[in-house]
Amino acid sequence: MGESTARTESDLEMRSVYSAADLQGFDAQARLGEPGSYPYTRGVYPTMYTGRPWTMRQYAGFGTATESNERYKQLVAAGTGGLSVAFDLPTQMGYDSDAPLASGEVGKVGVAIDSVDDMRVLFDGLPLGDISTSMTINAPASTLLLMYQLVAAEQGVDSKQLAGTIQNDVLKEYIARGTYIYPPQESLRLISDIFAYCSKEMPRWNTISISGYHMAEAGATPAQEVAFTLANAKEYVKAAHAAGLDVDTFAPRLSFFFVARTTLLEEVAKFRAARRIWARIMKEEFGAQKPKSQMLRFHTQTAGVQLTAQQPEVNLVRVSLQGLAAVLGGTQSLHTNSFDEAIALPTQKAARLALRTQQVIAYETDVCKTVDPFAGSYVVESLTNDLEDKIMELIQAVDDKGGAAAAIEQGFQKQEIERSAYEQQLKIDSGERIVVGLNKYQIEEDEKYVPLKVDPAIEAEQHERLEKLRSTRDNAKVEQALGEVKRAAEGKDNLLYPMKEALAANATGGEVSNALRDVWGMYTPVDAF
Ligand code: 3HC
Repeated sequence: MGESTARTESDLEMRSVYSAADLQGFDAQARLGEPGSYPYTRGVYPTMYTGRPWTMRQYAGFGTATESNERYKQLVAAGTGGLSVAFDLPTQMGYDSDAPLASGEVGKVGVAIDSVDDMRVLFDGLPLGDISTSMTINAPASTLLLMYQLVAAEQGVDSKQLAGTIQNDVLKEYIARGTYIYPPQESLRLISDIFAYCSKEMPRWNTISISGYHMAEAGATPAQEVAFTLANAKEYVKAAHAAGLDVDTFAPRLSFFFVARTTLLEEVAKFRAARRIWARIMKEEFGAQKPKSQMLRFHTQTAGVQLTAQQPEVNLVRVSLQGLAAVLGGTQSLHTNSFDEAIALPTQKAARLALRTQQVIAYETDVCKTVDPFAGSYVVESLTNDLEDKIMELIQAVDDKGGAAAAIEQGFQKQEIERSAYEQQLKIDSGERIVVGLNKYQIEEDEKYVPLKVDPAIEAEQHERLEKLRSTRDNAKVEQALGEVKRAAEGKDNLLYPMKEALAANATGGEVSNALRDVWGMYTPVDAF
């Protein structure tokens, strides 16, 4: 029967049959290397999961710090290996819960954190010296990092031992999702200050999680997801270098964040190609010498956009396949979505099931018994090579526009992603792309799903906490400390030191962000179209 060809998510050819001929002349030693060796195609550690399973790190947070603290304790009790904090939009946008713009959003899509006091409640009873914590925070990442460091110090934890990650990737916020505050150059300066501060004060902290996830959720293909992420990463490395930082002092603590789609074979190839490309960029373009500077260590979240509100239980199957794709692709940390998240924030039972999905993959399958099981596969190695070529083409296109920041100003990445999103939607609408339960195999839904609700009364509770904080603190000391933040923002000194003083004096996160707004203003996107 004649060979047929299909198209992958990245619009690459996928043939019905591959053979040895497809890998003719393929130099496995040069292109793959050994696990834990340059170019890390097969994984960043020699033993990968045979040495230590990936970190099961479930993204969670809603309502007040007290409510989220309870959910974190439930997740730790259920076996989660690391924490992952979801902040509400006011916190992500650098506003206090009583700011006019915060009204109606307090505690909704994540936890409301206004002060060191809220951070203290959030981690009450959780040993920060023994766990690693990821915080999904971008424009105000420095503020939340410093609050975390202050609370850890109160627990007697040496900052040099603190493990965790801040997302701190504002470039992708200009492209997708939108939780940016300051103009690009000021954002890059603050990010470089964080690199410098952490390399000195918190050497185990991953200073950035350069993310493709949100661009993928906005419609980016796998090739676009990796290309635009690595182009952003190059921009951060250039900015840190321009700030006088040696690449091998900060690069080991760069980390990444990608999506895992249901199209498992292409996703495994995507992760392998990403590691190989980043290793080469760091070694050849930036002269990084340290192995850890060349390793692309990443977190994965299963594709939220592929969940359906129709027959939500079917999402359990999708998430299992997506989680398996991430593991076969060599992820270091994984969040598996809850089956009800297309409807609302996950219930406790759904969140536990999501974690159980990872535990079944880790402990009931045999995929942790060997490293990079797809190595040598005719189709996966061919797809890895083809994806590498496509990704390099797209990175070159961004470079030709002057690099990621310049391309963002021209609206390039946003336009490319919106075009892909439109093309994908046309395929779903036409039925060319089957979504089970949505455009094929539909049923009359037999039971109404009861989603988790966030009590709107928590907004008033946060207001009371802020009033109490402001009436009991030394306001003259706070004003003086915020003045120091402004002076640092006008100059060249590392911002994190005066920011830490202000937060320790009980300045709120919003007040610190406003001090920077007063000096830098706020970014308004160019009308790219
Ligand atoms: N052999 C040797 N050492 C090993 C090993 C092995 N097989 N496996 C792990 N290790 C070591 C590592 O070297 C590391 O040591 P170090 O701390 O001294 O470097 C330690 O064990 C921990 O291993 P990892 O660093 O691989 O795993 P972590 O889980 O600690 O870190 C990460 C993973 C990707 C590097 C980190 O950046 C991370 O945790 N990222 C998470 C990001 C995240 O959760 N983001 C959520 C985003 S949600 C969002 O954006 C919004 C939503 O809407 C999408």
